[in-house]
Amino acid sequence: MIELSAVEKTFEQPGGERVPALRGVDLSIPAGQFLTVIGSNGSGKSTILNVIAGTYLLDAGTIGIADSDVTRWPEHKRAALLGRVFQDPFKGTCPSMTVAENLRMAELRGKRRGLRLGLDRASLERYRAGLASLGMRLEGRLQASMGTLSGGQRQAVTLLMATICRPMLLLLDEHTAALDPRAAEQIMLVTDHLVRTHALTTLMVTHSMEQAVRFGDRTIMMHRGMIVADLTGDERRGVTEADLLVRFAELRYTTEMRVTKDLRIAP
Ligand SMILES: Nc1ncnc2c1ncn2[C@@H]1O[C@H](COP(=O)(O)OP(=O)(O)O)[C@@H](O)[C@H]1O
Ligand SMILES: [Mg+2]
Repeated sequence: MIELSAVEKTFEQPGGERVPALRGVDLSIPAGQFLTVIGSNGSGKSTILNVIAGTYLLDAGTIGIADSDVTRWPEHKRAALLGRVFQDPFKGTCPSMTVAENLRMAELRGKRRGLRLGLDRASLERYRAGLASLGMRLEGRLQASMGTLSGGQRQAVTLLMATICRPMLLLLDEHTAALDPRAAEQIMLVTDHLVRTHALTTLMVTHSMEQAVRFGDRTIMMHRGMIVADLTGDERRGVTEADLLVRFAELRYTTEMRVTKDLRIAP
């Protein structure tokens, strides 16, 4: 269970202007839930992930992960509980190391003791099986250096790395946005496979409304630092990409009409 309560985060821009990025966000994610997040540019999607990961500390509010109140935990301490994948396929892996070595590093990150950097046969076999399960013909590339893989292949390996220690929460920030449509689709299938196989609690930000409603169990929409829609169950199943686009257009309109920050658009 992940619990954000009354979370506030304001950034100060270089010119001194204060930008509220999260305004009173309450969000609780039950264990095993796959939650997708959509919202316009600058609506606070990445900031939610960043405050959970501890990249930024909160101005107000609390964050709980499982039984721990992590509000004041530094980023490196939270990292043990989290898996993260970013938009940039080059982030989070070491290009000069092989695929197998990168996977080993990811495993070592989780458990400091009892594992050595050396790659034994059993580990290699485990990585090969993990890669094979992704269905991207990566099992033959264990000894290839990461830098030689395509963007899609890299994101697949990065996902395997982010989930290898079975994190309490998997954070995905538009992790298919930099890929061509075919690779993006493959990566979404890999994501869904890993999340479901290990029943991972997952928070996925996406620029794609189609992805947001096709994958996962629940979708929230952000607007100007607030959660303005929260869809699950039958209501979510019935929603189309077009419905979401209309909702976005309405939000933009109501914002222009200077509706106050307390407005909550009912799902
Ligand atoms: N490190 C930062 N410094 C200053 N402003 C920031 C920083 N990170 C985010 N912001 C601002 O906070 C708001 C929300 O940003 P972000 O969460 O990245 O939006 P999204 O991911 O939804 O596009 C934006 O106005 C953005 O400019
Ligand atoms: Mg973002």
